[in-house]
Amino acid sequence: MITGANGQLGSDLKDVLSSGGYKIIALTHQDADLADSKKIIELVNEYQPNIFINTAAFHHVDQCEADLEKAMLLNATAPALIAGICKERNITFIHFSTDYVFDGKKAEPYVETDAAHPLNNYGISKRKGEEAILLINPNAIIIRVSAIYGKSPCRAKNGLNFVQLMLKKANENADLKVVDDEIVSPTSTESIANCLIELVDKNLYGIIHMTSEGSCSWYEFAQEIFNYAKTPAKLTAAKSTDFPAKTPRPKYSVLENEVLKKNDLNFMPHWKTALHLYLDQYLVQNSN
Ligand SMILES: NC(=O)c1ccc[n+]([C@@H]2O[C@H](COP(=O)([O-])OP(=O)(O)OC[C@H]3O[C@@H](n4cnc5c(N)ncnc54)[C@H](OP(=O)(O)O)[C@@H]3O)[C@@H](O)[C@H]2O)c1
Repeated sequence: MITGANGQLGSDLKDVLSSGGYKIIALTHQDADLADSKKIIELVNEYQPNIFINTAAFHHVDQCEADLEKAMLLNATAPALIAGICKERNITFIHFSTDYVFDGKKAEPYVETDAAHPLNNYGISKRKGEEAILLINPNAIIIRVSAIYGKSPCRAKNGLNFVQLMLKKANENADLKVVDDEIVSPTSTESIANCLIELVDKNLYGIIHMTSEGSCSWYEFAQEIFNYAKTPAKLTAAKSTDFPAKTPRPKYSVLENEVLKKNDLNFMPHWKTALHLYLDQYLVQNSN
């Protein structure tokens, strides 16, 4: 059973898991609100899944900043209740979290055991969710991802992902200023789905980092998009201070997949490899 099934991550999980032989019960927001535990219990009782994957979240960072109560309800209270429902029924619970639980002040990649210190309400609510889930259901699997892009648009951001936006703007001959002082590991949702399928039956639980190998600034990411796509672009490097930030965000968001590596389960590709694969498909589909 997958929530957020028409979201960016949910769409690829659905496709990859169903190609891997799993029978999927795909839930959209319309099928069930995350906070409606009565409805969730009804659906769980009806379909009796053996794995429950929660990709749904309230993750528009500026909206979370304006509404901490809603962020706490959807990112902490509701997932913790579902973790409890799963524990009672012996269902594996898999939940997605974020690099935004960290403040970005570390100079090297964050490992799973590093202390969290979120800078904004979104990060605070996701961290509270992690803690509450593991308190109620210590066998839950919490996967932290970062800077994700997929074939389906990020619903919370209303439209194009970073790769699609860069290509669209370049084709419109726009001047592009992209920050070179925010460091990330851009990660494709397809690579997350491919890695997740390898660990579902491996008795791993707790917090697991699952991001692409390597890291880059958003500017370097944009450069690689244009180089690989052979798209001329008017791209210049900018600083994050050039853009008035509404909500504080971590400047360094690189996660080390330490748990995956220790368990020989790190199937995450380098960010350039995943980007090239993504562009190969995307450019063919959008060639007309
Ligand atoms: N995007 C990133 O770069 C990023 C980075 C780090 C972590 N994450 C985490 O990764 C996960 C997936 O993100 P994504 O990029 O796939 O997001 P997405 O494309 O916005 O998908 C989120 C899904 O959740 C659904 N949803 C929202 N509120 C809901 C509610 N109250 N009840 C039920 N469903 C609800 C949305 O449906 P509607 O649109 O119909 O409301 C949508 O289908 C989230 O946990 C997020 O915190 C994302």
